[in-house]
Amino acid sequence: MLNSKDELPENRVTTVSAGHKQIALSHFEGKICALNNSCPHQGGPLGEGSIENGILRCPWHGWDYHPCTGKAPGFDDGVEAYKVKEENGAIFVGLLEEEPHRETISDVMMEELPLSPFPHR
Ligand code: FES
Repeated sequence: MLNSKDELPENRVTTVSAGHKQIALSHFEGKICALNNSCPHQGGPLGEGSIENGILRCPWHGWDYHPCTGKAPGFDDGVEAYKVKEENGAIFVGLLEEEPHRETISDVMMEELPLSPFPHR
């Protein structure tokens, strides 16, 4: 959790949670920016990356992204970026509301299975 941008030094990135989402939060050019934490390459944790020369580098294989737009330099795609609002020193990240869980056949099967992994003989 980050309560104010003063907790994250300029040109640093960290990981925060919002609901079931992990977010890479960076402090870049005086503002807080938020990206999906999962690198599009193989899911590397962008919040554990580093910002060098104005680019956020994934810690796993070194793919690069703009810390605020999420665009990969030289490409049309990148990682999802979220709106960020700073209000009275607090940080708010704009995410779509999560859909409620819909029961599936797997849920029903799990409810019907015996609790013990070793059935009695
Ligand atoms: S997972 Fe990010 S570069 Fe491979």
